[in-house]
Amino acid sequence: MMEHTVAGARIRLMKGDITKVPADVIVNAANSELIGGGGVDGAIHRAGGPSIMLELNRIRPKDGCPTGGAVVTGAGDLPAKFVVHAVGPVWEGGRFQEDLDLASAYKTSLDLAAAKGARTVSFPSISTGAYRYPLAKAAFVALSTVAAFLRSRPGALAEVDFVLFDDAALRAYEAALDVLGREGGAP
Ligand code: APR
Repeated sequence: MMEHTVAGARIRLMKGDITKVPADVIVNAANSELIGGGGVDGAIHRAGGPSIMLELNRIRPKDGCPTGGAVVTGAGDLPAKFVVHAVGPVWEGGRFQEDLDLASAYKTSLDLAAAKGARTVSFPSISTGAYRYPLAKAAFVALSTVAAFLRSRPGALAEVDFVLFDDAALRAYEAALDVLGREGGAP
């Protein structure tokens, strides 16, 4: 496991299934409609049970959740207190400021987690599955957004974990954390 400290908070990279890793907040890679799907979204609803979708049905905004935004629900049977359902961008070749939308999905999730009093948050690699965002680019956006949040709000969170599903994702995030760490002293 790779670990890095920013403003007194830990960023950890690990391989695994995010539904099995305890955290105060688990972040889901959702769609704007908040209706569930495959990938990590499917795994979270399966492991968390029906209460999560019932709550989404109550709180779902009329026009859905915009790309780059997120909503919070309880975590049902997951080893967490809350799930943040974040909507990352679909990769369209980088022509539509997908990097800004991806950064916003991470930033909004961190703000919501901190507002709920979370100390630990775990993320999957948002947008790099069905939404086809290139892994290496997504890893830089994810880690630099988390590091900027931790620096701007020291003490707001104690730990941010990236729970990555396969070796390719883990390697991409390790490489990005390595580069960011060398460039800035800390990412
Ligand atoms: N734990 C951690 N990571 C996982 C898990 C899991 N249990 N299952 C899948 N992943 C990984 C994938 O390997 C990928 O790297 O999560 C990353 C994100 O992939 P997707 O889940 O496809 O998410 P995304 O690309 O953001 O697409 C979102 O897919 O499932 C639908 O409803 C979802 O429409 C939305 C879209």
